[in-house]
Amino acid sequence: MEEKKTNEANADFNRRAFFVKLGLGSLGIATAGTAVFGYQFLSPNVLYEPSPIINAGKPEGYPIDSVTLDVNSGIYIIRAKEGFFSLSAVCTHLGCLTAWKPELGIIACPCHGSKFRQSGEKIEGPAPKPLPWKRMWISDDGDLMVDRSADVSPMQYVRI
Ligand code: FES
Repeated sequence: MEEKKTNEANADFNRRAFFVKLGLGSLGIATAGTAVFGYQFLSPNVLYEPSPIINAGKPEGYPIDSVTLDVNSGIYIIRAKEGFFSLSAVCTHLGCLTAWKPELGIIACPCHGSKFRQSGEKIEGPAPKPLPWKRMWISDDGDLMVDRSADVSPMQYVRI
C-alpha cells in the first residue's frame, strides 16, 4: 500500500514537472515573439535608397562621341567633343527608361514614342520636358562622378 502511494506521488510529481516545463516553454516562446514584434514596431519605417552619387569610372573608358547608358542608375554618360555630361535616362513623360539609338543618333522612349536629341532636347512625342542634365564632376581620384539628384542647366560640360 505504501509503495502504491509512493508511485502515485512520483507520477503526480512527473506530471506537475511536465506541465511546469510546458508552461515555461510557452512563456519563453510568447516572450520571444513579443520581443521580435516590439523590435519591428520600434524600428523606423524607412526605405533605404541607394546613394544618388554614381561613380562612372575613368574618363578614358568612354570614347569620344559615345553615349553610354547605365541601366542600373538610369543615366547616360555622354562624351561629346566639348566634354563629358550626364543626362537622366528616365523619360519626362511617364518615367520609362529611354534607349540610345546609334543608327538614328537619338534617344528614344519605347513607351509612347518620345524622341530626344543627344543633348536631351525633345524632338517629338508626349514628353513635356527635355531630359535633364545631371551634375557631373571629376573626383580627386580622377573618376567621373554624377549626382542623379541634382539637375544642372544644359551645356555645362566637364572637360578633362
Ligand atoms: S513614358 Fe516616354 S513617351 Fe511616355
